[in-house]
Amino acid sequence: MSTPLRLGIAGLGTVGIGVVKIIQSHADLLTLRAGRPITISAVSARSRRDRGIDLDGYAWEDDPVALAKRDDVDVFVELMGGSDGPAKAATEAAIAAGKDVVTANKAMLALHGNELAQSAEDAGRAIRFEAAVAGGIPVVKALTEGLAGNEIKRVIGVMNGTCNYILTRMETSGLPYDDIFAEANDLGYLEADPTLDVGGIDAGHKLSLLSSIAFGTRVAFDDVELQGIERISIDDIRHAADMGFKIKLLGVAQMTGRGLEQRMTPCLVPATSPLGQLDGGTNMVVLEGDSVGQIVLRGAGAGEGPTASAVMGDVIDLARGIRISTFGQPAASLQPAPAAKATAAAPYYLRVVLQDKPGALAKVATVLSNSGVSIDRMRQYGHADTTAPVLIVTHKTTQDALDHAISGFAETGVVVGEPVAIRIENV
Ligand code: HSE
Repeated sequence: MSTPLRLGIAGLGTVGIGVVKIIQSHADLLTLRAGRPITISAVSARSRRDRGIDLDGYAWEDDPVALAKRDDVDVFVELMGGSDGPAKAATEAAIAAGKDVVTANKAMLALHGNELAQSAEDAGRAIRFEAAVAGGIPVVKALTEGLAGNEIKRVIGVMNGTCNYILTRMETSGLPYDDIFAEANDLGYLEADPTLDVGGIDAGHKLSLLSSIAFGTRVAFDDVELQGIERISIDDIRHAADMGFKIKLLGVAQMTGRGLEQRMTPCLVPATSPLGQLDGGTNMVVLEGDSVGQIVLRGAGAGEGPTASAVMGDVIDLARGIRISTFGQPAASLQPAPAAKATAAAPYYLRVVLQDKPGALAKVATVLSNSGVSIDRMRQYGHADTTAPVLIVTHKTTQDALDHAISGFAETGVVVGEPVAIRIENV
């Protein structure tokens, strides 16, 4: 029998338990595919409570750093989470002790990935993180392996299932954000710190990691333009639908002449597009390469089975002796990412509430015209009082021109409240 690959698993939450279950239930299959058995030497977690699976055969460590350094551990599997603290300390300890690392920790890699990747390479070890991005979807593998022969043009995606669940439920129920947020909370969908989800941070972490692989740049999470879904109103979801769109928390990364553009913001996408049809807690990543064209990957972005599946893909690679650089090329060769100063021009959805009196619409149209913003489509709604909501879909325009128009609206004397502007991505 060939030498087993021995794991030390830190973190026995949903994903850790999923990994243990796969190793216990698929031992023969894993041995055949990896060419050697995959075993667990030791585990570590915050408490020793009963988790409904048999952990008796594994040594227990209270301290994940001690686990990471054990002589009987070849691969340190970090499933604790948290950008710093024990997860980072144990990952660093594992690398220093000559172990490979498999992690699901997007926050740690988004903030410290450049340094960790360099340390791992200096030590001749690998850090693999398929489970950190879009759960069970093998998007890191797609970029680093299947599409390695392409110049990547664009990465687009819905990478936070909780936000997609909330936006989908708002649409289907007609209920406002606060009600559906409470529902998602009751269902246990939200991270311990919900702003990681609804503030777009978790998805921004993921996008920054994919950007690095796609464009050969150092991870630059601080340059990701972030905007969450907290201010998306049920009115906009309904009106966007009337105009043929869905609202998604959409990640877009592309290298432009102005630098690397990385955005994780609410956008409108055509309702008939694959992204527009993505309902509930599912993730979707669209990759565009110069040779392959566009490919669409869709699947569960979280949960025990899907995320453990991604962890095991990385573990099996290591068992096979495959060690790909963390971000697909040597860490030292990753270039600093010049951040794009302004986003590429795009069409926008505008919702403006007007006083319902003669000339109001003409004034708004004049402001748009004076700002160089061209109207593609427009719809005015019936009204119960003295105001009238007007929806405008613009032709492609710059953020500067749009900002100019929005500040111009305030001077017309006919616009009520704050106009809403949401970018449209034609994907
Ligand atoms: N909370 C994330 C989501 C999963 O809802 O997609 C972990 O990144």
